[in-house]
Amino acid sequence: MIGTRKDLLGLEDLAPEEIVSILDTARTFREVLDRPIPKVPSLRGLTAANLFFEASTRTRLSFELAEKRLSADTVNFQTSGSSVSKGESLKDTARNIEAMGIHLVVIRHQSSGAPHYLARNLDAGVINAGDGTHEHPTQGLLDIFTIRERRGKVAGLRVAIIGDIAHSRVARSNIWGLTKLGASVTIAGPSTMMPMEVERFGIKVAKSVEEAIEGADVVNILRIQLERQRSTLYSSLREYARVYGITSARLKGAKPDVTVMHPGPMNRGVEIAQDVADGEHSVILEQVTNGVAVRMAVLYLLAGHKAPDESAAEHPMPKETKKAHGEPSLHPRR
Ligand code: CP
Repeated sequence: MIGTRKDLLGLEDLAPEEIVSILDTARTFREVLDRPIPKVPSLRGLTAANLFFEASTRTRLSFELAEKRLSADTVNFQTSGSSVSKGESLKDTARNIEAMGIHLVVIRHQSSGAPHYLARNLDAGVINAGDGTHEHPTQGLLDIFTIRERRGKVAGLRVAIIGDIAHSRVARSNIWGLTKLGASVTIAGPSTMMPMEVERFGIKVAKSVEEAIEGADVVNILRIQLERQRSTLYSSLREYARVYGITSARLKGAKPDVTVMHPGPMNRGVEIAQDVADGEHSVILEQVTNGVAVRMAVLYLLAGHKAPDESAAEHPMPKETKKAHGEPSLHPRR
């Protein structure tokens, strides 16, 4: 179970009940965030390091906020200005940070598998905040949390994921999580942006955006990841917008109460039209708010048993979560 894990590296590794446990815990933390003082002592005495080797706005800030809302101490690391520029390796960087008494490491890295490498080499818990084109598990969880809150369930929903699937770690985490919870996922995008061995994911591939969107409960729109594309995979952004951009007209094929999502940052006018991004169906900013609660849940469940502060461990959570999920696990890990 998630409470006995040391690390969160991807949703491919999680059992459906582990995902549900994170979502349930996040719901309680979402209520905490609406309180006048949105803070609990759950992780008092623990220290988290946020290691960002790639740019980030939402993920970095929401992990830091989540840690602070849980009363953990936090330190932040960015490549620029660090000794990485002098040639220090990822392993040495992380081991030096751990030697300062770090209990949890949150890492975003341009190389797929970097968090897994750290997880094997550190005693600290490791959380993947996005690795190359592999996974972005907390984004997948916050997307699924938002879907469940909005639509009341996940099983049986029709979810369309549109865009640059091949380079999208968000798409992979969404696909693993949604299919494990019983949603039906259809993807669409240029053939040059489709992943290899797509059948391995147990999803449908539509021939057009219109086909993918037809009757969809949820449309999740992905950013074109120009920074990860080694060659031009589409003739022009204007042409991409014309064929694959989600406009109000295209959205009419979906369910009338369709939920529109985007992980951000958005290329407005390319993959998503202005009026769709800011329209009545959009939950894009709600995703960001929910991200803090979901990351609080992940930190809490992974680190709970490490809490050295007896009083914090005694009352780490609001009553309802204690009832639903029990105390953080005390089992040794690995
Ligand atoms: N969704 C997401 O990962 O955004 P950032 O790159 O700003 O963290």
